Amino acid sequence: MNPPTSVAPHLVLVGLMGTGKSTVGRRIAHKLGWEFLDTDDEINRLTGRTVRQIFETDGEEFFRQVEHDVLAAACQMSTPHVIAGAGGIVLRADNRQLLKNSRFVVWLNAPLPVLVERIGQRAAKGDGHRPLIDGNPAERLQKLYVERECLYRDVSSIEIDVEGLQVQDVIDKVLTETGLEANS
Ligand code: S3P
Repeated sequence: MNPPTSVAPHLVLVGLMGTGKSTVGRRIAHKLGWEFLDTDDEINRLTGRTVRQIFETDGEEFFRQVEHDVLAAACQMSTPHVIAGAGGIVLRADNRQLLKNSRFVVWLNAPLPVLVERIGQRAAKGDGHRPLIDGNPAERLQKLYVERECLYRDVSSIEIDVEGLQVQDVIDKVLTETGLEANS
């Protein structure tokens, strides 16, 4: 008989680049008194390199392995964390299993034009940790959207459309829909 699979006590936010996972996640963690972990920041902390540097020197596959190691370690932690999972966290089947074994997985979603608009604004401000959309962000993002939509749907139990919502509105929805508002 297989041993029972334990559920990681975390709230994980997933979704494409530009949906606000890190901003929303950090503020929810603060509100709940939980710890916050952003997988890209953790990779940066552990390797001493930026996402872009890792992509350029070691390639995407190596990056995905480090990303997996970070998620796996996070899922071992017994104290509840709010985790902002980077956009590609759903690509590996083993990551999807880890996500499904987490207490809450919330998919922040938005129509493609909204994401293109948000990411364009940030790229103009020098936010360069997204090598996958270099060149033609709109076209590349559309490809990622098509490839990943079903994966985000597969791992999440709650979907929030962030179009037209302020950060505080998204936070309120996450807290309401998870039932965590009572603890905040
Ligand atoms: C990626 C998303 C990025 C970063 C890297 C790859 C992806 O994180 O990990 O550029 O594959 O969608 P954010 O979702 O935080 O932008």
